[in-house]
Amino acid sequence: MGMSSEKRREPAAACPETLLAWYDRMARRLPWRVPPGSGGVADPYRIWLSEVMLQQTTVAAVKTYFETFTTRWPRVEDLAAAPDAEVMAAWAGLGYYARARNLLKCARVVAGELGGRFPETEEGLRALPGIGPYTAAAIAAIAFDRPAVVMDGNVERVVARIFAVEAPLPGVKEHLRGLAAELTPAHRPGDYAQAMMDLGATVCTPRSPACGICPWREACLGRREGIAAELPRKSPKAAKPVRRGIAYLAMRPDGTVLLERRPGKGLLGGMLGLPGTDWAEELPPPRPPLAADWRDAGAEVRHTFTHFHLLLRVETARLAPGAPAPEGLLFEPASEAGAALPTVMRKAFRLGLSALEEG
Ligand code: ADE
Repeated sequence: MGMSSEKRREPAAACPETLLAWYDRMARRLPWRVPPGSGGVADPYRIWLSEVMLQQTTVAAVKTYFETFTTRWPRVEDLAAAPDAEVMAAWAGLGYYARARNLLKCARVVAGELGGRFPETEEGLRALPGIGPYTAAAIAAIAFDRPAVVMDGNVERVVARIFAVEAPLPGVKEHLRGLAAELTPAHRPGDYAQAMMDLGATVCTPRSPACGICPWREACLGRREGIAAELPRKSPKAAKPVRRGIAYLAMRPDGTVLLERRPGKGLLGGMLGLPGTDWAEELPPPRPPLAADWRDAGAEVRHTFTHFHLLLRVETARLAPGAPAPEGLLFEPASEAGAALPTVMRKAFRLGLSALEEG
């Protein structure tokens, strides 16, 4: 990338202490957070759990799941001892289900092999299931107050603006990381990491940043040049492809519905779902889980995953009392199934249920 040294004007006062003083006054109260100045000590289990939940997921969405998990499984040993199906059901709706499978694996390694203690270094943390470079840095900083460089989308945006970096993401990531590393202090690195996140989430927001109340307003080159709101620039993204499939909702007169436990790997792995076809660019041929009078629910479910949009047809059937479950499938009460399903399956389930009620 190579910015010339003349172009590289250091902002006058983008110093960590200014940000930390702001954080001392303005820190968000979050269920996993130790407020600055409270004298509290972070619990690595709660920091780890929150950071895994916060991967690709908003603080607002995570809060209630975090409360549920920590109430039900207050220590890493409790989570490690929980049955897989209970943890997967408790995760339902948060998305990115590989996180939940790795969460359990990680809890079992920590509880079973590490005496219930999380490693304190980034390297040690990265060796655990589901902990990548971002999460390792965040846990090292927040739980163990180590000066790790914590880079997430918020931090990238703040750094791009402070230094008026105009080169686009994702190519400029490594350059931004270098700039972030130069800013990261040895003093209170955990609070500093959280301060950067808070600044990005509440002041240095993607659209209409509140530069007037920013602790770094004097220092920010992006603001000085009048381009803060446009940064970071992004290379155009390839459009997401569309995939199509059919899901089947079969109900017995006792109110139980036919579900499958999806295979452990891949998208929605380990989660409950409606049985159905594969998902492909061309709608695959029908593949009902059993012979019945299948009817189209008359609408489609739309759901967007990281790499594609899904259009899911839903077909429904009423089964005879006591109809047996085909090999590998199970009947669950409809009243309980909804809560345990991942969001796309919950949409298909709801659509199918209302079609059954009408039909
Ligand atoms: N996003 C990721 N980690 C976070 C944290 N610890 N606090 C707030 N937002 C976050």
